[in-house]
Amino acid sequence: MSTRVVIGAQWGDEGKGKIIDLLSNKVSVVARYQGGANAGHTLKFDNTTIVLHLVPSGVFHDNTECVIGNGVVIDPLALLTELEEVRSHNINPEGRLFISESAHVIMSYHKVLDQAREKSKGDNKIGTTGRGIGPAYVHKYSRNGVRMMDLLDAEVLRTKVEANVTEINHLLEQLNCDEKLEANQIVKEMLEAGEKLKPFVCDTGLLLHNAQKAGKNILLEGAQGALLDVDHGTYPFVTSSSPTSGGACTGTGLPPTAITHVMGIMKAYCTRVGNGPFPTELHNEIGEEIRKIGHEFGATTGRPRRTGWLDLVALKYACRINGINELAVTKLDVLDAFEEIQICTAYDIDGVQTDQFPLELKKIEKVKPVYTALKGWNCDTTKITDKEALPQTVKDYVAFIETYLEVPVVILSTGPKRKETLFLQEVH
Ligand code: IMP
Repeated sequence: MSTRVVIGAQWGDEGKGKIIDLLSNKVSVVARYQGGANAGHTLKFDNTTIVLHLVPSGVFHDNTECVIGNGVVIDPLALLTELEEVRSHNINPEGRLFISESAHVIMSYHKVLDQAREKSKGDNKIGTTGRGIGPAYVHKYSRNGVRMMDLLDAEVLRTKVEANVTEINHLLEQLNCDEKLEANQIVKEMLEAGEKLKPFVCDTGLLLHNAQKAGKNILLEGAQGALLDVDHGTYPFVTSSSPTSGGACTGTGLPPTAITHVMGIMKAYCTRVGNGPFPTELHNEIGEEIRKIGHEFGATTGRPRRTGWLDLVALKYACRINGINELAVTKLDVLDAFEEIQICTAYDIDGVQTDQFPLELKKIEKVKPVYTALKGWNCDTTKITDKEALPQTVKDYVAFIETYLEVPVVILSTGPKRKETLFLQEVH
Protein backbone atom coordinates (compact mmCIF):
# COMPACT_ATOMS: atom_id res chain seq x y z
CA MET A 1 0.00 0.00 0.00
CA SER A 2 1.43 3.40 -0.92
CA THR A 3 0.45 7.05 -0.69
CA ARG A 4 2.91 8.78 -2.97
CA VAL A 5 3.26 12.53 -3.46
CA VAL A 6 4.61 13.44 -6.89
CA ILE A 7 6.06 16.94 -7.00
CA GLY A 8 7.93 19.17 -9.38
CA ALA A 9 11.44 19.61 -7.94
CA GLN A 10 12.36 22.72 -9.96
CA TRP A 11 10.28 25.67 -11.24
CA GLY A 12 7.45 23.60 -12.71
CA ASP A 13 7.06 22.04 -16.17
CA GLU A 14 9.25 19.07 -15.21
CA GLY A 15 7.01 16.60 -17.05
CA LYS A 16 4.91 15.53 -14.08
CA GLY A 17 1.89 14.80 -16.29
CA LYS A 18 3.66 11.98 -18.12
CA ILE A 19 5.06 10.39 -14.95
CA ILE A 20 1.71 10.61 -13.13
CA ASP A 21 -0.01 9.09 -16.15
CA LEU A 22 2.53 6.22 -16.10
CA LEU A 23 2.12 5.58 -12.38
CA SER A 24 -1.67 5.88 -12.51
CA ASN A 25 -2.19 2.28 -13.58
CA LYS A 26 -0.63 1.20 -10.28
CA VAL A 27 -2.97 3.29 -8.12
CA SER A 28 -6.68 3.49 -7.31
CA VAL A 29 -6.90 7.22 -6.67
CA VAL A 30 -5.06 10.27 -8.07
CA ALA A 31 -5.64 13.59 -6.29
CA ARG A 32 -4.58 17.14 -7.17
CA TYR A 33 -3.86 19.16 -4.04
CA GLN A 34 -3.01 22.78 -4.96
CA GLY A 35 -2.84 25.34 -7.74
CA GLY A 36 -5.45 25.71 -10.40
CA ALA A 37 -5.72 26.13 -14.13
CA ASN A 38 -2.28 27.80 -14.08
CA ALA A 39 -0.88 24.27 -14.39
CA GLY A 40 -0.62 22.51 -17.71
CA HIS A 41 0.09 18.79 -17.68
CA THR A 42 0.82 17.50 -21.16
CA LEU A 43 0.06 13.86 -21.96
CA LYS A 44 1.00 12.13 -25.21
CA PHE A 45 -0.26 8.73 -26.25
CA ASP A 46 -1.87 7.01 -29.27
CA ASN A 47 -0.79 9.97 -31.43
CA THR A 48 -2.84 12.33 -29.29
CA THR A 49 -1.63 15.27 -27.23
CA ILE A 50 -3.78 16.37 -24.32
CA VAL A 51 -3.09 19.24 -21.95
CA LEU A 52 -4.86 19.00 -18.61
CA HIS A 53 -5.10 22.05 -16.38
CA LEU A 54 -7.34 20.92 -13.53
CA VAL A 55 -8.43 17.31 -14.01
CA PRO A 56 -5.83 14.94 -12.50
CA SER A 57 -3.63 13.21 -15.06
CA GLY A 58 -5.00 9.80 -13.94
CA VAL A 59 -8.26 10.37 -15.81
CA PHE A 60 -7.09 8.36 -18.82
CA HIS A 61 -6.94 5.14 -16.78
CA ASP A 62 -10.41 3.59 -16.55
CA ASN A 63 -10.02 2.18 -13.07
CA THR A 64 -8.54 5.25 -11.44
CA GLU A 65 -10.64 7.61 -9.38
CA CYS A 66 -9.65 11.27 -9.74
CA VAL A 67 -9.94 13.85 -6.99
CA ILE A 68 -9.63 17.62 -7.11
CA GLY A 69 -8.72 18.32 -3.50
CA ASN A 70 -9.69 21.16 -1.19
CA GLY A 71 -6.34 22.93 -1.72
CA VAL A 72 -6.98 23.49 -5.43
CA VAL A 73 -8.58 26.72 -6.66
CA ILE A 74 -11.15 25.80 -9.28
CA ASP A 75 -12.24 27.87 -12.25
CA PRO A 76 -15.63 26.19 -12.89
CA LEU A 77 -15.82 27.44 -16.47
CA ALA A 78 -12.32 26.20 -17.30
CA LEU A 79 -13.16 22.88 -15.63
CA LEU A 80 -16.35 22.45 -17.66
CA THR A 81 -14.42 23.12 -20.89
CA GLU A 82 -11.77 20.59 -19.84
CA LEU A 83 -14.42 17.97 -19.05
CA GLU A 84 -15.78 18.42 -22.57
CA GLU A 85 -12.25 17.83 -23.92
CA VAL A 86 -11.92 14.70 -21.76
CA ARG A 87 -15.30 13.42 -22.99
CA SER A 88 -14.22 14.03 -26.59
CA HIS A 89 -11.57 11.33 -26.01
CA ASN A 90 -14.36 8.89 -25.06
CA ILE A 91 -13.63 9.16 -21.35
CA ASN A 92 -16.65 9.50 -19.11
CA PRO A 93 -15.71 11.36 -15.92
CA GLU A 94 -19.05 10.63 -14.19
CA GLY A 95 -18.56 8.43 -11.14
CA ARG A 96 -14.76 8.75 -11.43
CA LEU A 97 -14.16 12.43 -10.78
CA PHE A 98 -14.66 13.86 -7.31
CA ILE A 99 -14.38 17.56 -6.54
CA SER A 100 -13.89 18.82 -3.01
CA GLU A 101 -16.85 20.78 -1.72
CA SER A 102 -14.38 22.93 0.24
CA ALA A 103 -12.15 23.83 -2.71
CA HIS A 104 -12.18 27.56 -3.41
CA VAL A 105 -13.58 28.93 -6.63
CA ILE A 106 -11.76 31.20 -9.06
CA MET A 107 -14.35 33.80 -9.99
CA SER A 108 -14.18 35.97 -13.10
CA TYR A 109 -13.19 38.90 -10.85
CA HIS A 110 -10.07 37.06 -9.70
CA LYS A 111 -8.86 36.83 -13.29
CA VAL A 112 -9.61 40.51 -13.97
CA LEU A 113 -7.78 41.49 -10.78
CA ASP A 114 -4.78 39.21 -11.51
CA GLN A 115 -4.31 40.81 -14.93
CA ALA A 116 -4.91 44.38 -13.70
CA ARG A 117 -2.39 43.96 -10.85
CA GLU A 118 0.25 42.57 -13.20
CA LYS A 119 -0.29 45.45 -15.61
CA SER A 120 0.05 48.00 -12.84
CA LYS A 121 3.41 46.53 -11.74
CA GLY A 122 5.20 47.38 -14.98
CA ASP A 123 8.75 45.99 -14.95
CA ASN A 124 8.27 44.43 -11.51
CA LYS A 125 5.53 42.08 -12.57
CA ILE A 126 5.65 38.43 -11.46
CA GLY A 127 4.71 37.15 -14.90
CA THR A 128 1.68 35.24 -13.61
CA THR A 129 -0.41 33.04 -15.88
CA GLY A 130 -3.27 35.55 -15.49
CA ARG A 131 -5.60 32.76 -14.39
CA GLY A 132 -6.67 34.50 -11.16
CA ILE A 133 -4.68 32.20 -8.88
CA GLY A 134 -3.21 34.82 -6.52
CA PRO A 135 -6.44 36.80 -5.96
CA ALA A 136 -8.42 33.58 -5.37
CA TYR A 137 -5.97 32.45 -2.67
CA VAL A 138 -6.00 35.98 -1.18
CA HIS A 139 -9.78 35.71 -0.79
CA LYS A 140 -9.40 32.25 0.71
CA TYR A 141 -6.98 33.47 3.37
CA SER A 142 -8.85 36.72 4.05
CA ARG A 143 -11.94 34.52 4.55
CA ASN A 144 -13.97 36.08 1.76
CA GLY A 145 -13.65 33.17 -0.64
CA VAL A 146 -16.39 31.32 -2.47
CA ARG A 147 -16.20 27.54 -2.08
CA MET A 148 -17.52 24.86 -4.42
CA MET A 149 -20.35 24.13 -1.96
CA ASP A 150 -21.44 27.78 -2.25
CA LEU A 151 -22.18 27.33 -5.95
CA LEU A 152 -25.00 25.03 -4.83
CA ASP A 153 -26.54 27.61 -2.49
CA ALA A 154 -27.88 30.71 -4.28
CA GLU A 155 -28.35 32.76 -1.12
CA VAL A 156 -24.83 32.25 0.24
CA LEU A 157 -23.33 32.77 -3.21
CA ARG A 158 -25.16 36.06 -3.79
CA THR A 159 -24.15 37.49 -0.39
CA LYS A 160 -20.49 36.66 -0.96
CA VAL A 161 -20.35 37.83 -4.57
CA GLU A 162 -22.05 41.15 -3.82
CA ALA A 163 -19.56 41.92 -1.03
CA ASN A 164 -16.57 40.90 -3.13
CA VAL A 165 -17.66 42.76 -6.26
CA THR A 166 -18.03 46.02 -4.33
CA GLU A 167 -14.51 45.62 -2.94
CA ILE A 168 -12.99 44.59 -6.25
CA ASN A 169 -14.60 47.44 -8.21
CA HIS A 170 -12.87 49.84 -5.79
CA LEU A 171 -9.57 48.06 -6.29
CA LEU A 172 -9.91 48.10 -10.08
CA GLU A 173 -10.54 51.82 -9.98
CA GLN A 174 -7.33 52.30 -8.00
CA LEU A 175 -5.47 50.20 -10.54
CA ASN A 176 -6.78 52.42 -13.36
CA CYS A 177 -8.70 49.52 -14.86
CA ASP A 178 -11.91 50.53 -16.65
CA GLU A 179 -13.65 47.20 -16.15
CA LYS A 180 -16.71 47.31 -13.85
CA LEU A 181 -18.02 44.03 -12.47
CA GLU A 182 -21.68 43.22 -12.10
CA ALA A 183 -22.76 40.82 -9.35
CA ASN A 184 -26.00 39.53 -10.95
CA GLN A 185 -24.30 38.23 -14.06
CA ILE A 186 -21.55 36.54 -12.04
CA VAL A 187 -24.05 34.85 -9.70
CA LYS A 188 -26.11 33.59 -12.63
CA GLU A 189 -23.07 32.18 -14.43
CA MET A 190 -21.71 30.49 -11.33
CA LEU A 191 -25.07 28.95 -10.33
CA GLU A 192 -25.34 27.46 -13.80
CA ALA A 193 -21.81 26.07 -13.58
CA GLY A 194 -22.53 24.77 -10.07
CA GLU A 195 -25.57 22.88 -11.33
CA LYS A 196 -23.45 21.14 -14.00
CA LEU A 197 -20.67 20.29 -11.55
CA LYS A 198 -23.01 19.21 -8.70
CA PRO A 199 -22.76 15.46 -9.45
CA PHE A 200 -19.00 15.60 -8.84
CA VAL A 201 -18.94 17.68 -5.65
CA CYS A 202 -18.43 15.82 -2.36
CA ASP A 203 -16.29 15.43 0.79
CA THR A 204 -13.08 14.27 -0.91
CA GLY A 205 -11.15 14.21 2.39
CA LEU A 206 -13.42 11.43 3.56
CA LEU A 207 -13.15 9.63 0.22
CA LEU A 208 -9.33 9.68 0.48
CA HIS A 209 -9.39 8.60 4.11
CA ASN A 210 -11.61 5.63 3.24
CA ALA A 211 -9.42 4.71 0.26
CA GLN A 212 -6.39 4.67 2.52
CA LYS A 213 -8.17 2.68 5.20
CA ALA A 214 -9.12 0.14 2.53
CA GLY A 215 -5.42 -0.29 1.66
CA LYS A 216 -5.65 1.34 -1.77
CA ASN A 217 -2.66 2.96 -3.50
CA ILE A 218 -3.01 6.73 -3.74
CA LEU A 219 -1.09 9.28 -5.76
CA LEU A 220 -1.09 12.94 -4.77
CA GLU A 221 -0.33 15.10 -7.78
CA GLY A 222 1.46 18.41 -7.26
CA ALA A 223 1.31 21.23 -9.78
CA GLN A 224 4.03 23.85 -10.49
CA GLY A 225 7.28 23.17 -8.60
CA ALA A 226 9.04 23.39 -5.25
CA LEU A 227 10.85 26.63 -6.12
CA LEU A 228 7.52 28.31 -6.87
CA ASP A 229 6.19 27.44 -3.41
CA VAL A 230 4.77 30.50 -1.61
CA ASP A 231 6.77 29.70 1.55
CA HIS A 232 9.89 27.99 0.23
CA GLY A 233 10.26 29.35 -3.29
CA THR A 234 11.97 32.40 -4.75
CA TYR A 235 9.51 34.81 -3.12
CA PRO A 236 7.87 37.03 -4.38
CA PHE A 237 8.40 35.33 -7.75
CA VAL A 238 6.30 32.34 -6.75
CA THR A 239 2.80 31.02 -7.14
CA SER A 240 0.29 31.48 -4.30
CA SER A 241 0.02 27.90 -3.08
CA SER A 242 2.20 25.13 -1.61
CA PRO A 243 3.40 22.78 -4.36
CA THR A 244 5.82 21.18 -1.86
CA SER A 245 4.93 17.84 -0.30
CA GLY A 246 3.58 19.46 2.88
CA GLY A 247 0.86 21.03 0.73
CA ALA A 248 -0.35 17.54 -0.15
CA CYS A 249 -1.67 17.10 3.39
CA THR A 250 -3.39 20.47 3.84
CA GLY A 251 -4.63 20.28 0.25
CA THR A 252 -6.31 16.88 0.56
CA GLY A 253 -7.09 16.31 4.24
CA LEU A 254 -4.78 13.27 4.42
CA PRO A 255 -2.44 13.46 7.44
CA PRO A 256 1.41 13.55 7.18
CA THR A 257 1.55 10.02 8.63
CA ALA A 258 -0.30 8.79 5.53
CA ILE A 259 2.54 9.68 3.12
CA THR A 260 4.81 6.76 2.25
CA HIS A 261 6.80 8.13 -0.72
CA VAL A 262 7.75 11.52 -2.14
CA MET A 263 8.83 11.41 -5.75
CA GLY A 264 10.57 14.49 -7.15
CA ILE A 265 10.34 15.05 -10.89
CA MET A 266 13.30 16.89 -12.39
CA LYS A 267 14.26 17.76 -15.92
CA ALA A 268 17.77 16.87 -17.10
CA TYR A 269 18.26 20.63 -17.33
CA CYS A 270 16.30 23.61 -15.95
CA THR A 271 13.52 25.87 -17.16
CA ARG A 272 11.53 28.69 -15.69
CA VAL A 273 8.54 30.57 -17.06
CA GLY A 274 7.67 34.02 -15.77
CA ASN A 275 10.02 36.35 -13.93
CA GLY A 276 12.34 35.78 -10.97
CA PRO A 277 15.83 34.47 -10.24
CA PHE A 278 17.25 31.57 -12.22
CA PRO A 279 20.95 31.04 -11.37
CA THR A 280 21.86 28.69 -14.24
CA GLU A 281 19.92 30.51 -16.96
CA LEU A 282 21.65 30.54 -20.35
CA HIS A 283 21.33 33.66 -22.48
CA ASN A 284 23.19 32.12 -25.40
CA GLU A 285 22.83 29.69 -28.28
CA ILE A 286 22.98 26.67 -25.92
CA GLY A 287 19.92 27.99 -24.07
CA GLU A 288 18.23 28.58 -27.42
CA GLU A 289 19.07 25.04 -28.56
CA ILE A 290 17.64 23.51 -25.37
CA ARG A 291 14.44 25.57 -25.86
CA LYS A 292 14.17 24.42 -29.46
CA ILE A 293 14.93 20.73 -28.93
CA GLY A 294 12.89 20.56 -25.72
CA HIS A 295 9.91 22.49 -27.17
CA GLU A 296 10.12 24.73 -24.13
CA PHE A 297 7.01 26.83 -24.51
CA GLY A 298 4.42 27.12 -21.70
CA ALA A 299 1.59 24.55 -21.87
CA THR A 300 -0.86 27.08 -20.40
CA THR A 301 0.24 30.41 -21.83
CA GLY A 302 2.46 29.43 -24.79
CA ARG A 303 5.21 31.73 -23.44
CA PRO A 304 8.81 30.72 -24.31
CA ARG A 305 10.40 29.17 -21.24
CA ARG A 306 13.74 30.40 -19.96
CA THR A 307 16.33 27.59 -20.13
CA GLY A 308 19.54 26.67 -18.32
CA TRP A 309 21.82 23.87 -17.14
CA LEU A 310 20.87 21.47 -14.35
CA ASP A 311 21.15 23.10 -10.92
CA LEU A 312 21.96 20.57 -8.19
CA VAL A 313 22.18 23.23 -5.47
CA ALA A 314 18.54 24.16 -6.05
CA LEU A 315 17.62 20.48 -6.32
CA LYS A 316 19.33 19.58 -3.04
CA TYR A 317 17.22 22.27 -1.40
CA ALA A 318 14.09 20.83 -3.06
CA CYS A 319 15.01 17.35 -1.77
CA ARG A 320 15.39 18.76 1.76
CA ILE A 321 12.13 20.72 1.97
CA ASN A 322 10.07 17.95 0.36
CA GLY A 323 11.68 14.85 1.83
CA ILE A 324 12.13 13.49 -1.69
CA ASN A 325 13.10 9.82 -1.50
CA GLU A 326 12.93 8.92 -5.20
CA LEU A 327 13.63 10.91 -8.35
CA ALA A 328 12.42 10.78 -11.93
CA VAL A 329 14.66 12.49 -14.50
CA THR A 330 12.72 13.67 -17.55
CA LYS A 331 13.66 14.97 -21.01
CA LEU A 332 17.05 13.25 -20.98
CA ASP A 333 16.81 13.03 -24.78
CA VAL A 334 16.96 16.84 -25.08
CA LEU A 335 20.65 16.60 -24.12
CA ASP A 336 21.39 13.80 -26.64
CA ALA A 337 23.21 16.12 -29.04
CA PHE A 338 25.52 17.82 -26.54
CA GLU A 339 29.25 16.94 -26.50
CA GLU A 340 29.56 18.17 -22.94
CA ILE A 341 26.99 18.71 -20.21
CA GLN A 342 27.38 21.24 -17.42
CA ILE A 343 25.95 20.66 -13.97
CA CYS A 344 25.87 23.36 -11.31
CA THR A 345 27.32 21.96 -8.08
CA ALA A 346 27.90 25.14 -6.04
CA TYR A 347 26.98 28.79 -5.92
CA ASP A 348 29.54 31.56 -5.72
CA ILE A 349 28.05 34.50 -3.82
CA ASP A 350 30.40 37.47 -3.41
CA GLY A 351 33.42 35.18 -3.77
CA VAL A 352 32.21 32.62 -1.23
CA GLN A 353 31.17 29.17 -2.40
CA THR A 354 28.15 27.43 -0.93
CA ASP A 355 25.97 24.41 -1.67
CA GLN A 356 23.01 25.91 0.23
CA PHE A 357 20.21 27.62 -1.71
CA PRO A 358 19.86 31.21 -0.41
CA LEU A 359 16.41 32.48 0.53
CA GLU A 360 17.11 36.19 0.16
CA LEU A 361 16.22 37.50 -3.27
CA LYS A 362 19.24 39.83 -3.43
CA LYS A 363 21.56 36.90 -2.71
CA ILE A 364 19.99 34.57 -5.28
CA GLU A 365 20.29 37.29 -7.88
CA LYS A 366 24.05 37.56 -7.18
CA VAL A 367 24.73 33.84 -7.63
CA LYS A 368 27.47 32.82 -10.05
CA PRO A 369 27.00 29.11 -10.75
CA VAL A 370 30.02 26.83 -10.32
CA TYR A 371 29.85 24.03 -12.87
CA THR A 372 31.20 20.50 -13.19
CA ALA A 373 31.46 19.34 -16.79
CA LEU A 374 30.41 15.80 -17.69
CA LYS A 375 30.96 14.07 -21.02
CA GLY A 376 27.79 13.97 -23.15
CA TRP A 377 26.46 10.63 -24.49
CA ASN A 378 25.93 11.79 -28.06
CA CYS A 379 23.42 9.11 -29.00
CA ASP A 380 19.68 8.79 -29.50
CA THR A 381 18.40 7.78 -26.05
CA THR A 382 14.77 7.62 -27.24
CA LYS A 383 15.61 4.29 -28.90
CA ILE A 384 16.93 2.67 -25.72
CA THR A 385 14.38 0.28 -24.25
CA ASP A 386 16.52 -1.56 -21.71
CA LYS A 387 18.33 0.12 -18.83
CA GLU A 388 21.31 -2.23 -19.33
CA ALA A 389 21.74 -0.77 -22.82
CA LEU A 390 22.30 2.75 -21.51
CA PRO A 391 25.73 4.13 -22.46
CA GLN A 392 28.24 4.45 -19.61
CA THR A 393 28.11 8.24 -20.01
CA VAL A 394 24.39 8.27 -19.15
CA LYS A 395 25.02 5.93 -16.21
CA ASP A 396 27.76 8.29 -14.99
CA TYR A 397 25.43 11.27 -15.34
CA VAL A 398 22.72 9.51 -13.29
CA ALA A 399 25.24 8.36 -10.68
CA PHE A 400 26.55 11.93 -10.38
CA ILE A 401 23.04 13.22 -9.60
CA GLU A 402 22.33 10.39 -7.15
CA THR A 403 25.60 10.88 -5.28
CA TYR A 404 25.15 14.64 -4.97
CA LEU A 405 21.50 14.51 -3.93
CA GLU A 406 21.73 11.24 -1.96
CA VAL A 407 18.46 10.10 -3.56
CA PRO A 408 18.01 7.27 -6.10
CA VAL A 409 16.85 8.00 -9.65
CA VAL A 410 14.10 5.43 -10.25
CA ILE A 411 12.77 6.63 -13.61
CA LEU A 412 14.52 8.01 -16.70
CA SER A 413 12.25 9.54 -19.30
CA THR A 414 13.64 9.82 -22.82
CA GLY A 415 10.64 11.24 -24.67
CA PRO A 416 7.04 12.33 -24.26
CA LYS A 417 5.47 8.94 -25.07
CA ARG A 418 4.60 6.31 -22.47
CA LYS A 419 7.02 3.81 -24.03
CA GLU A 420 9.93 6.26 -23.91
CA THR A 421 10.57 5.48 -20.25
CA LEU A 422 13.15 3.39 -18.40
CA PHE A 423 12.41 2.18 -14.88
CA LEU A 424 15.84 2.01 -13.20
CA GLN A 425 14.20 0.63 -10.06
CA GLU A 426 10.81 -0.86 -9.46
CA VAL A 427 8.21 1.66 -8.26
CA HIS A 428 5.66 0.06 -5.93
P1 IMP B 1 0.45 32.28 -11.04
O1 IMP B 1 0.54 30.90 -10.45
O2 IMP B 1 -0.37 32.35 -12.29
O3 IMP B 1 0.07 33.30 -10.01
O4 IMP B 1 1.95 32.70 -11.51
C1 IMP B 1 3.02 32.87 -10.58
C2 IMP B 1 4.32 32.33 -11.14
O5 IMP B 1 4.26 30.92 -11.23
C3 IMP B 1 4.65 32.83 -12.56
O6 IMP B 1 6.05 32.95 -12.67
C4 IMP B 1 4.16 31.69 -13.44
O7 IMP B 1 4.83 31.65 -14.67
C5 IMP B 1 4.53 30.50 -12.56
N1 IMP B 1 3.69 29.32 -12.84
C6 IMP B 1 2.40 29.14 -12.51
N2 IMP B 1 1.98 27.93 -12.92
C7 IMP B 1 3.02 27.34 -13.50
C8 IMP B 1 3.22 26.05 -14.10
O8 IMP B 1 2.34 25.19 -14.14
N3 IMP B 1 4.46 25.81 -14.59
C9 IMP B 1 5.47 26.72 -14.50
N4 IMP B 1 5.34 27.92 -13.95
C10 IMP B 1 4.12 28.23 -13.45
